[in-house]
Amino acid sequence: MTSNGAPAGSAEPAEIDTSVAHAARVYDYLLGGRANFKVDRDAAARAYAAFPGGLDGVRADVRQHRAVLGRMVRYFVEDAGIVQFLDIGTGIPRKTAAKTLDFSRPTAVMLFGILHFFSDADDPRGLIGQLMAPLAAGSGLAMSHPQTPAVPSQTWVGAARKSG
Ligand SMILES: C[S@@+](CC[C@H](N)C(=O)[O-])C[C@H]1O[C@@H](n2cnc3c(N)ncnc32)[C@H](O)[C@@H]1O
Repeated sequence: MTSNGAPAGSAEPAEIDTSVAHAARVYDYLLGGRANFKVDRDAAARAYAAFPGGLDGVRADVRQHRAVLGRMVRYFVEDAGIVQFLDIGTGIPRKTAAKTLDFSRPTAVMLFGILHFFSDADDPRGLIGQLMAPLAAGSGLAMSHPQTPAVPSQTWVGAARKSG
């Protein structure tokens, strides 16, 4: 363990504020990842203690949510033939964001567990429209949304394709 509570061996980039919990790192902790700090783990413990099944129950739900995301990606690749993705709110970035989307070919937009961060005043429907507008016919949109705040086991999941 390092001084700020990060698991030994994990890197702490200078621009990361480890004094305040961050949604992506809390989610990483719930998934069993290593890119989180004590402040994130404490925030998760406080936030989810009262949920059904407690923190362990939420962690199990979150793993299921991630598994659904994986199945959705497989559907787009194997059944829909889409091979490029725009994943909004992907969590802890694992690689440099892609700058090479080919807008002449279908793209799958993933909005998993992110829309509850936007209020009605943000016009999420309009934002989704802006994301989809430049994409080619046949592009896909997959969304998941908690039906009660932050309980993935009660999550709505949907997918659609853009017509020509
Ligand atoms: C519940 S996690 C879901 C992560 C991932 N999509 C998944 O399903 O495994 C929500 C993510 O949305 C990100 N997020 C929140 N507000 C955002 C915004 N305005 N723009 C981009 N990402 C955002 C958080 O940082 C966090 O990584």
